[in-house]
Parts: sequence; C-alpha cells; structure tokens
Amino acid sequence: MSTGNIRDDAAKPGFDRAARFYDLFYSVVEAFSSRHRRELLHRARGSILEIGVGTGSSFQDYPPGVPIVGVDISQEMLHRAEEKRRSYDREIELRKEDVLRLSFDDEAFDTVFSSWVFCSVADPRRGLSEVHRVLKRGGQLLMLEHVRSKNRILGWLMDRLNPLVSRLGLGDINRDTIQYLRQAGFKIEQEQNITYDLVKAIVASK
Ligand SMILES: C[S@@+](CC[C@H](N)C(=O)[O-])C[C@H]1O[C@@H](n2cnc3c(N)ncnc32)[C@H](O)[C@@H]1O
Repeated sequence: MSTGNIRDDAAKPGFDRAARFYDLFYSVVEAFSSRHRRELLHRARGSILEIGVGTGSSFQDYPPGVPIVGVDISQEMLHRAEEKRRSYDREIELRKEDVLRLSFDDEAFDTVFSSWVFCSVADPRRGLSEVHRVLKRGGQLLMLEHVRSKNRILGWLMDRLNPLVSRLGLGDINRDTIQYLRQAGFKIEQEQNITYDLVKAIVASK
C-alpha cells in the first residue's frame, strides 16, 4: 500500500476512529448500498478509481476481473480494506490519498466511483474538481450519495439539523452534490432518486 504525501483533512481523525466499528455500524445499510453500487458499477469500464474506498465494502460489487485503484484519506479504513482485499481474486491497489489533492496525472482514469463519500469531504467542490481533472475526456463518474432535499420543508429541516449531525461525525446532510458536479464541469447523464430525493444514484460524464 503506498502512502501519498498529504495534509490531514478534517474528516480523517473521525474515520480513523470509526474504522473499527464501521462494518458493524454500516451492516444495516450495506444490503441496500450493495444492490445500488452493483447497478452503478455494471457501467464501470477501463481504468477505475474509487474515492473513499473505506473498508472495501464495494469490492464485492464490481464486475468480475476489473482492476481497481482505491484511495482513502484514513489509514485505519485502508487497513480494513487491505484485509478484505486478500479474499478477492482481482487486482486492487490501495493508496492513502486526499481527494482534495490527488497525486494522479490529469486524465488518468476512465471511470471514477464513490459511495457515501462527498457528504464528508471537507470541500466537496474542490474534491469534485480533482475527480474531473483525473478523469479522461468522455470518462464517467458513478456516485451513490445522499443529498439535500429540494422539498422546501425537508430542505429547511436538513439545514437546521446539519450542525448537530455533522458534529456527530456523520458528514453533512445538506449538500447540493448535483450543483457541485455541474460547477466542477461534469454533465449529469443520470440522476436517479433512490429514496425520495435524498439518496441518488448519479452518472456524470466529462
Ligand atoms: C461513509 S465512508 C464510505 C466508505 C465506502 N465508500 C462505503 O461505501 O462503505 C466515507 C469514506 O470517505 C473517506 N474520506 C473522507 N474524506 C476524504 C478525503 N478528503 N479524501 C479521501 N477519502 C475521504 C473516509 O475516510 C471514509 O472512508
């Protein structure tokens, strides 16, 4: 596992602490996540980068045989991913990287994937600009993310609750990820509402 030269991101200590219990805690949503990851990942092609790979829960959801580069800012999450990696007969490279300053060359990947990541990245706009930079022209970004509702009352409530939720280390619940994607230069190809308009499967292209 190589270690990128990074500055600590605000998200890191929280996820380092959470790594031990992450799989247990997330087992409640994992069956849900896995089904939707799989649906998105059948589109994955060419060279694939996963941002915020966490404990490697997604490894089971990739089509057979495709090689993956998985990055995360948390060394402890990567340790867990490394343990899982051993039980898969596929090429998986794990690297410690901050999505805010990826060490990859411009246009290095055909596909970038993330699930439940951009709610906790300190600066999602900058992170998505980095993803845009490392994606090839014509490449695609596949995302499973929760976002702020467009419903006036629900959106207002999410804004009010966000400081508390965020302080608990659960990320921001009021991010307008679709708008950030457009601002980063992506074209939205698919925006599928999975749970009301709170959880979305997104396909974006460069
Ligand atoms: C909620 S977990 C999701 C993990 C995994 N994608 C999944 O679906 O189970 C969010 C992950 O994003 C990572 N992360 C947060 N900020 C990051 C950053 N700036 N750069 C890279 N990874 C980051 C965290 O360390 C954590 O592993």
